[in-house]
Amino acid sequence: MIKHLADCTVLQNGVKMPWIGLGVWRVDDGAQVVHAVKTAIQHGYRSIDTAMIYKNEEGVGQAIAEAGVPREELFITTKVWNSDQGYDTTLAAFDESLKKLGLDYLDLYLIHWPGTDKYADTWKALEKLYKDGKVRAIGVCNFHKHHLEELMKTAEVKPMVNQIELHPLLSQKELLTYCKQNNIQVEAWSPLMQGNLDHPVLAKLAQKYEKTPAQIVLRWHLQNGVVIIPKSVKEHRIMENAALFDFALSDEDMGRINDLNQNQRFGPNPDEFFLV
Ligand SMILES: NC(=O)c1ccc[n+]([C@@H]2O[C@H](COP(=O)([O-])OP(=O)(O)OC[C@H]3O[C@@H](n4cnc5c(N)ncnc54)[C@H](OP(=O)(O)O)[C@@H]3O)[C@@H](O)[C@H]2O)c1
Repeated sequence: MIKHLADCTVLQNGVKMPWIGLGVWRVDDGAQVVHAVKTAIQHGYRSIDTAMIYKNEEGVGQAIAEAGVPREELFITTKVWNSDQGYDTTLAAFDESLKKLGLDYLDLYLIHWPGTDKYADTWKALEKLYKDGKVRAIGVCNFHKHHLEELMKTAEVKPMVNQIELHPLLSQKELLTYCKQNNIQVEAWSPLMQGNLDHPVLAKLAQKYEKTPAQIVLRWHLQNGVVIIPKSVKEHRIMENAALFDFALSDEDMGRINDLNQNQRFGPNPDEFFLV
């Protein structure tokens, strides 16, 4: 089990990916994102999750440059947005992201949403970037099992990561099992239910373990073998969300959290979120 903030899962190609990263959706470019990313790195985070559509890749890049940690110790993820799906457009979008981030390679590049009919071509572009050594690992976001099955019909390289909405109200049990069987690392987005942590079961567990509801939920993810990227712009929460190693949830309490599932999404269902 993970014991340290820098501990990693090993992806199917041998690349190490930290179990914990900082998410930066809805963090403003400029001072806010620079401060959040630098604060996280100072407190030991080594993984940052951004996306072209978050419009803060430049600030993330600035923070990386100023943080004083060697590039190779960091794990940087960004994503190709819906309107850039397709082979040539994805290659161009990748170059633009890399330029904004001020980097010469990425650690993980993801398809942001499946859409309907373009993701096979988009994936071909990701495979090229991977084979050319411009990105160390490639994957997808928001892929249901049927999207993964379809993609694997034509893929030469299997997706290494599937980043999906996952939290106690949406436990995604079947998809998690399918990904584990296929050696696809699951990464949870909105791991903290976008801050909606006010739940009597979580409050009770927080009291029992002398932790916060956020820490209970994040520890539940880790014990389920899921990578987490909680977002915060506040230093005390950035620290809180990484202080998860001095307690363990019992099997019974893991079960109590599993039982909270209501298949409730805070974001769209990938089957209903089409490319724009
Ligand atoms: N691939 C995709 O389609 C996709 C979609 C959505 C998100 N993501 C990624 O996943 C990351 C995380 O998801 P998310 O940002 O939607 O939501 P989240 O991490 O579940 O929750 C973030 C919210 O919770 C608050 N918060 C953070 N730590 C807290 C704590 N310890 N106690 C109480 N509240 C806390 C934050 O506020 P403060 O900032 O004020 O602390 C913010 O409002 C994103 O930032 C993004 O990188 C990916």
